[in-house]
Amino acid sequence: KADKTPRDKGLDHSLTLLFEGYQFIPKRTARFGTDLFQTRLLGENVICITGQEAAKMFYDKERFQRDGAAPKRIQKTLFGENGIQTMDGSPHEHRKHLFMSLMTAPRLKKLGELTHKYWEQKASKWRKKDKIVLFDEAQEVLCQAACEWSGVPIKKTEVTQRAADFSNMVDAFGAVGPRHWRGRKARARAEKWIRQVIRKIRSGKLEAEEETAAYAMAFHKDMEGKPLDIRMAAIELINVLRPIVAIATYITFSALALHKRPELRDELEDGNDDYIQMFVQEVRRYYPFGPFLGARVRRGFIWNHCHFNEGQLVLLDIYGTNHDSRLWENPNTFSPKRFKNWNGGLYDLIPQGGGNYYKNHRCPGEWATIEAMKASLNFLNQLDYKVPKQNLHYSLVRMPTLPNSRFIMTNVKSKE
Ligand code: HEM
Repeated sequence: KADKTPRDKGLDHSLTLLFEGYQFIPKRTARFGTDLFQTRLLGENVICITGQEAAKMFYDKERFQRDGAAPKRIQKTLFGENGIQTMDGSPHEHRKHLFMSLMTAPRLKKLGELTHKYWEQKASKWRKKDKIVLFDEAQEVLCQAACEWSGVPIKKTEVTQRAADFSNMVDAFGAVGPRHWRGRKARARAEKWIRQVIRKIRSGKLEAEEETAAYAMAFHKDMEGKPLDIRMAAIELINVLRPIVAIATYITFSALALHKRPELRDELEDGNDDYIQMFVQEVRRYYPFGPFLGARVRRGFIWNHCHFNEGQLVLLDIYGTNHDSRLWENPNTFSPKRFKNWNGGLYDLIPQGGGNYYKNHRCPGEWATIEAMKASLNFLNQLDYKVPKQNLHYSLVRMPTLPNSRFIMTNVKSKE
């Protein structure tokens, strides 16, 4: 059958993508009424796909590979060069086990406890302040929790800078110009710091507990039994630290959801773990963070009458799949209760990727994210605060996005 896949008209849509952000793919799939369309981005013919069936296909390792998919500009800011995100086949699975080995139940619980501990410490300084900016506070809290959890020493005086560096690596992903360069500088500084940590652990100058990420990265052996070079060990350790700090985005959106829907507070405050779990899932579904994922066609094939050619770049729409009305009733309504009947599908709720944790690229930090969000929400629930007038709008064009004011709170006190 002839390939009738809709084609986005025009020469190159790289700029349109920057101007339309999270809505670039969803707008076109809606306009064309399809799950896929072709477009030109950065001088390449790219296929964009959306929905559960598309996600299932995207995670088929016979059809797709990650090698060559992530642009260097993303590797030099967000990912780190040649890290786990760019690997395929058994070397990827071997590396993935390293990350998954950090996510045992007691270790996840520990991350929640550390998150709570650092929130308490932070809050003790709020009495002297008229206002706090939740996103900024959350980043510092999570940076301290991430470092302690991972066995990376951090001085109190360093926290602000290190948290900003992790944040700037993430902030660079949808950017060109100064924001991109800020991300590169941040990565260079963080890698230098973490290489030093790895060196010290290897030489015995610094002790790291066996169950920590720092220990795991310092002593991991690849499939040939060789240790990671210092650069790579640092990159992979940063692949644990940076995204823990990034959970600040979801914490800020959680506070926004509570502000917009104060009636949900009562249910949360009951301390009902099922409800808080549903709330956290809905924050991750509803609010934008990662817009899409990229992979390259490993071997040519046909899907939905469309030719996927070897080497071609394919983008899976994360934001659109999380808002797909075939999967989610009233997708644009924030409603935690929808998760009551959710069957835990591997390809419908995909804010952190889909498929199998061990075999695919799905985020190994998904449980850790949920744990840190829950600990933070439980902490926020112990507080009384006011939300003064401010610009809480979040752009769907800027990637990544946040409420403009980063969520300002005043009169913050613990509840009696
Ligand atoms: C991969 C999102 C938190 C570590 C991913 C992917 C996404 C994602 C979309 C790519 C999935 C794919 O390529 O198929 C997020 C979001 C987070 C978060 C939105 C919350 C803010 C974390 C945490 C950790 C982590 C807390 C570690 C503790 C990683 C690693 C990968 C990854 C190492 C690469 C996995 C691979 O390539 O096999 N994440 N993540 N992430 N994430 Fe996360």
